[in-house]
Amino acid sequence: MKTISYGRQEITEDDIKAVVGVLKGDYLTQGPMVEKFENDFSRFIQASNSIAVTNGTAALHLAALALGVREGQKVLVTTNSFAASANCIRYCGADVEFLDIDPQTMCLDLPALEQKLKSAKPGTYSGLVAVDFAGYPMDTESLRNLADQFGLWIIEDACHAVGARFLNSKNEWIFSGNGKYADISVFSFHPVKHIATGEGGMVVTANAELAAKVRLFRTHGITKDPSLMLNPVDGPWSQEMQVLGYNYRISDILCALGASQLQRIQKNLLRRRSIADRYASELGDIKALSLPKVPKNLEHAYHLYVVHTEQRGELFSHLQKNGVNPQVHYIPIHQQPYYQNLYGKMQLPRAEKHYQTALSLPMYHGMSDEEQGHVIKVVRKFYLG
Ligand SMILES: Cc1ncc(COP(=O)(O)O)c(C=O)c1O
Repeated sequence: MKTISYGRQEITEDDIKAVVGVLKGDYLTQGPMVEKFENDFSRFIQASNSIAVTNGTAALHLAALALGVREGQKVLVTTNSFAASANCIRYCGADVEFLDIDPQTMCLDLPALEQKLKSAKPGTYSGLVAVDFAGYPMDTESLRNLADQFGLWIIEDACHAVGARFLNSKNEWIFSGNGKYADISVFSFHPVKHIATGEGGMVVTANAELAAKVRLFRTHGITKDPSLMLNPVDGPWSQEMQVLGYNYRISDILCALGASQLQRIQKNLLRRRSIADRYASELGDIKALSLPKVPKNLEHAYHLYVVHTEQRGELFSHLQKNGVNPQVHYIPIHQQPYYQNLYGKMQLPRAEKHYQTALSLPMYHGMSDEEQGHVIKVVRKFYLG
């Protein structure tokens, strides 16, 4: 059996056909597949504007640019995430202040955030970046209510959470990152994610003005739409660079791959949930291993399956010796040397405890029953001999 990794893409014959179709066509980039992927994605998560970009990091950068993040501002960012969740704020010259987590959800701790905001001078913070860690859908409705009290905008980093949902106070199912509560949300299509285009990302917002800014920043800050031009239109060739933008465009080739994979998303989410159920039923009796707990009012997307154990280092090595390649998510961002040099060493104890004990077991929709059976056997052997 091949080494079983913590995450892995699945490419089908239909995916390959979709990519080959683009390669044989007229457009490699900026053709019809970009818009198709954007529209299909919006339909799936019930969003109004989806804007496809080169990767999740570019999506975060565009979100921060569109919200006007700039030098002199301070933005709150949950520390249990990939560095990009904070870096996007630094790209725009603003400062980051890190937030500790709720150990149950591993996402930001709402009551602690409320305390922090109440004790800060009004206007201290401009906004916050919240992460649906591992695919756990954050209660963005409560987060919105809190953010509104203090005049903050919200970026929802939903890179882990394609297809995650929670029930809001009106008993409606809300897809993570669909723009209902956060100002802007972002997704990533890195190979270990639910949709794997190699590199790829999506910005989502319900706000048409923000969507227009994201589109402008995505392509050098240049518009070709005569109705939007600031200077007189010289002719049909006219285009105008209005802001300092970037080339964060994604190709038609990758969007064809994304759109093809999106067609299987429901099936793949169900598969991930059934893998989680099997872990729960076959590892749940091990007292020294704590498994994710998911309340009934939400549907986890299980990008990752994160367990906690005091013997994390030993379990990690044991798995590696037995054909399983786990991972650890995450070293808290505030413990990264770049941020330590910038802001000094700080303590966020719950995220640090999480990091000391967390391990991501293999979780991907293409994992076979046999592969999962092997992972379970190896874990059981470690604890029970
Ligand atoms: C939570 C989170 N945010 C942002 C990113 C950045 O996405 P990308 O790798 O597509 O740039 C990742 C990628 O792994 C992520 O996990």
